[in-house]
Amino acid sequence: MRFQTSRTTIACEDAGHGTPVLLIHGFPLDREMWNDQLRGLSASARVIAPDLRGFGESGPPPDVMPMEDYATDLAELLEILAVDRAVVCGLSMGGYVALAFHARFPERTAGLVLANTRAGADSDAARAARLQNVKRAYAEGAGAIADAMLPKMLTDATRAARPALASGVRAMMARQTPDGLAAALRGMAARQDRTADLAGIAVPTLVVTGDADTLIPPSESALIAAAVPNARLVTIPGAAHLSNVERPEAFNAAVASFLGTIQPPR
Ligand code: MLT
Repeated sequence: MRFQTSRTTIACEDAGHGTPVLLIHGFPLDREMWNDQLRGLSASARVIAPDLRGFGESGPPPDVMPMEDYATDLAELLEILAVDRAVVCGLSMGGYVALAFHARFPERTAGLVLANTRAGADSDAARAARLQNVKRAYAEGAGAIADAMLPKMLTDATRAARPALASGVRAMMARQTPDGLAAALRGMAARQDRTADLAGIAVPTLVVTGDADTLIPPSESALIAAAVPNARLVTIPGAAHLSNVERPEAFNAAVASFLGTIQPPR
């Protein structure tokens, strides 16, 4: 389905009934990365998985997409879907957007799932690398970015044992547009440090990581879990950066158990 917001068109899946769960994809991906969650969680929850602006089938982005602007698009989407409050679940860049969503719309956030993400801003070196990748996306295309990122998305063992899964993840990354990648890279480079917000998060929070995540190491998740009051931390064994794709049963079990602790919507 595609929905018109005040600033763009957002494509999204909306499946199941129960507590609304908003699934925010990472970079450079789209809503397809949540297929196993749409299948596995929609029996007990309402699972909403949009494409962020500039990705998948959503509308084109401006030159820079601040994390707060992605969050505002999603708040408008929830309004269109008549969802007052949702559990906001983001992986990696999706986690940056989830933290921005909570900061801007705390009353609309029923809980947070922060998967394979970090609260801090980019270092100078990380920022410089982003801007190099902007150039690379335009010069060489999304396929070059996909080839560079794939080894960090899934473990070596999974890429060897499940080539169709690995080529599906590569294809998802390679079909994104240079404009979408550039806007997100510039937005991530400029994003604010949310570390100081963590102690004030008053909604139930689940932090998920993979023990083989080298892109955002488990130590970053441990920092978030230590700072957010009463947060739960789940470390998924045998998972790299895309823990929900690589170990969907473990990821879904962690989220389902967490949702069981959250008040259903009135
Ligand atoms: C992601 O998976 O969303 C990105 O790798 C996050 C990042 O580059 O900081």
